[in-house]
Amino acid sequence: MRSPKDFFRPLAVGAPEPLREVPFRPSRMIHFFDPSNEKMAAKVPAMAAQTDVLLGNLEDAVRADRKEAARAGLVAVAKTTDFGDTQLWTRVNSLDSPWVLDDLITLVTEIGDKLDVIMIPKVEGAADIHYVDRLLAQLEARAGLTRPLLVHAILETASGVANVEEIATASPRMQGISLGPADLAASRRMKTTRVGGGHPGYLVRTDPTGDDLTAGRTTFQQDLWHYTVARMVDACAAAGILPYYGPFGDIADVVACEDQFRNAFLLGCVGAWSLHPKQIAIAKKVFSPAPEDVAWARRVIAAMGDGTGAVMIDGKMQDDATVKQCRVVADLADALAA
Ligand code: GLV
Ligand code: MG
Repeated sequence: MRSPKDFFRPLAVGAPEPLREVPFRPSRMIHFFDPSNEKMAAKVPAMAAQTDVLLGNLEDAVRADRKEAARAGLVAVAKTTDFGDTQLWTRVNSLDSPWVLDDLITLVTEIGDKLDVIMIPKVEGAADIHYVDRLLAQLEARAGLTRPLLVHAILETASGVANVEEIATASPRMQGISLGPADLAASRRMKTTRVGGGHPGYLVRTDPTGDDLTAGRTTFQQDLWHYTVARMVDACAAAGILPYYGPFGDIADVVACEDQFRNAFLLGCVGAWSLHPKQIAIAKKVFSPAPEDVAWARRVIAAMGDGTGAVMIDGKMQDDATVKQCRVVADLADALAA
């Protein structure tokens, strides 16, 4: 029996690199569906063709009296659907819930060979990941699985944010981390009532120009999630795993959704959740580098030769560090095109 250790290089202290050993598969959008909803489950084969990742959600947004139906629905969908290149993920219930043990036992036993990643909500620290890691190892051994399941943590408690670095390195199974802005807002006692995105009250205002403090001043809305996304990106990059923006709940506001996703992309995130088919297209556009950015990156790379020294291109100084940034963009474009 092969154990996860056969698949992953042992952890170098502080620098596990499991994903560099795993072939690139895009995950620009993690499209959620409710497997307890028969109408939605019936659309899964069609959705699989449109998204990088399909995620059968068992946790929040599934009613307590539909938990068993959702679990059974996911098993049925996974057994009967050809997902092609699309990854199948699940979000199980939280580790303090009455459902998670049955979620993990049933899913690994019944469809462990179909699942790629298990998303664990409300992760508070490394101990949560260690628990899941051991349980998965036992269940995989019993089911005779030859490919270890990967684990994705949702960053949605104040403790989770405080411990994000240890979460990112807690197991070689760690695939990535998503921001969970709705639960995180509640955990932090923020005063928002939304799922992700900005808030009109979270702003800065230009200085007054005279005695009238209300006249002619411009306001700029700030990004409520900047600190957490940046911290999560650093933790993930240092650990060699992938960071994601989570959900954007105002489905009708496609403009703000695109803005929020783009902020996350520019800061280093590789994808976001999609809660509605129209968010799939937004994520695909945002998390694939724009052709003009790729063309510029290739121009800089070509001009920089061996990547050392400095050149001027269109009046802008390029050097070893800018060529590295350009390689990030060009490499992502190449990987997505492959
Ligand atoms: C996602 O689960 C969130 O709480 O935002
Ligand atoms: Mg949540």
